[in-house]
Parts: sequence; structure tokens; C-alpha cells
Amino acid sequence: MRLKGKTAIITGGASGFGAGIARKFVHEGCRVMIADINGTAARHMAQDLGPNAVAQDADVARAASVAEMAEAARALWGHIDILVNNAGVTHLPTPLEDVTEEDFDRVLAVNAKSVFLTAKAIVPQMKERGVGVILNVASTAGVSPRPRLNWYNASKGWMITATKAMAVELAPQGIRVNALNPVAGETPLLKSFMGEDTPEMRAKFLATIPLGRFSTPEDMGNAACYLCSDEASMITGVAMEVDGGRCI
Ligand SMILES: NC(=O)c1ccc[n+]([C@@H]2O[C@H](COP(=O)([O-])OP(=O)(O)OC[C@H]3O[C@@H](n4cnc5c(N)ncnc54)[C@H](O)[C@@H]3O)[C@@H](O)[C@H]2O)c1
Repeated sequence: MRLKGKTAIITGGASGFGAGIARKFVHEGCRVMIADINGTAARHMAQDLGPNAVAQDADVARAASVAEMAEAARALWGHIDILVNNAGVTHLPTPLEDVTEEDFDRVLAVNAKSVFLTAKAIVPQMKERGVGVILNVASTAGVSPRPRLNWYNASKGWMITATKAMAVELAPQGIRVNALNPVAGETPLLKSFMGEDTPEMRAKFLATIPLGRFSTPEDMGNAACYLCSDEASMITGVAMEVDGGRCI
């Protein structure tokens, strides 16, 4: 019960890594809000996790929706201990000059602007209490980019710098801010990174991961649990690779 008595908002918590993080958090005694643009999937996930999970329709790229999400959590629990900025999208593998402006805007809004919007909605109440943890799910793409995912890579680099900047500014208020850098993982998003899900493409990706497997939602749940628990009370500003050695 490493998160006993805590409360957490997990954006994009209805699928993939976010779902793995939500499952682990509930298992460790945390009450969670599954905040997802796919409200139906969020409700299924919350039902599956039991009475310590609730679903919230939320679009992390829209200020009004993020404010509603924060208000719903406050009304439910009184305060928010943990915020996991996990929702993310990518454009398909494309030469950088061919990515549409619409796709660029969508990737930056969901992956980067969301960190700004959730900070505006939630940091003030963390400051008031003098305690809080924020975890941003970035990517190895922000450290060791692969070609043809240029603007996605750049959005994750932004997220890593935002994590460090937030950590240094918020440390005096007792708020820790860290990031996870997952390597390619077994989630619905994987196909979008690979372009096509074929044995050859999988082998190509796996060849770059020394531990020889894709990451999993359980891997992210375990790493997130540690960084968001009091065991990590001296850790802030870290962007931790969960990548089987890919960034060595
Ligand atoms: N899967 C990978 O290979 C991989 C690798 C590195 C980093 N990541 C990052 O991990 C995070 C989770 O990815 P995943 O692989 O679990 O993807 P996923 O597609 O399985 O899940 C993403 C979830 O986010 C939700 N979402 C999308 N846009 C949203 C919005 N505007 N507001 C609220 N929710 C929204 C989706 O409905 C979905 O439930 C992302 O930030 C992604 O960039 C993924």
C-alpha cells in the first residue's frame, strides 16, 4: 500500500500506459480519477478498477475541460495529491516537412499545452497545501529521436524541459515534478509509431532495445508508483528512462 490514502488524476488513463498506472495506483491504495477524452473507455476502466476509481470525460488540450476535471476531483476528494500527465498522441511516421499543420497543432496541444493547462488548474491548490507530485509521461523520443517522428519527438523534448523547469520552480513549495521516458510499448499507440504493425517492423524496433522486449503498462505502473510515492521524496526533476537500455 505504497500510495495509501493518496488521490491521483491520471490523464489518458483509459488505455495503454495510463491504464497500467491507474491499475497499479489502485492496487497500492490510491484513489484515482481516469480522465480521458474517450469517456466510454474511461467508465469501463473505472468500473473494472472498483470503488476507488472514477471516470471523467476530459480533453487535456482544452482549458475549460481541464478546469472542469480539476474541479470534479476537488469536489470528490477535497484535494489532489498526484497528477499524472499521461495523455498523448502522435502524427504518423512522415518526412518532417510533410506533416500537416493540423497534425502538428494536435500533437503540441495534447502533449505540451496540456502540461501548461493542468499546471494552471492544479498547481495553485498543491501550493496551498505545500505538497504535491506531478509526473509527466514523456518518451525516449525526447532523448534519442527516431527519424520521421520529428514533431512528436520535439513535443516530448519540450515535456522533459518543462519537467525540469517546473521541478526547480516548485521545489520550495514542496511539489515534486518528474518524468518517465518509456521506450516503444505494447499499447494501441505502438502501431502509429511503427507505421505498420508487421513482424519485420517489430524486429527493427526490438533490435534497438538491449533488454529485447517492448515496454508494458505494468512497467510504467511500477515506475510511476515509485516516483509518485513518498519513497521518492528526495527525487525531483528526473526524466527516468523505462526503456530496457535503449538510450544507453
Ligand atoms: N506506446 C508507446 O510506444 C509509447 C512510448 C513512449 C511514450 N509514450 C507516451 O505514453 C503516453 C501514453 O501512451 P499509450 O501508448 O498508452 O497510448 P494509448 O493511445 O494507448 O492511450 C492514450 C490515451 O490518451 C487518451 N487521450 C488522447 N487524447 C486525449 C486528450 N486530448 N485528452 C484526454 N485524453 C486523451 C486516449 O483516449 C487514450 O485513452 C503518451 O503520452 C505517449 O506519447 C508511448
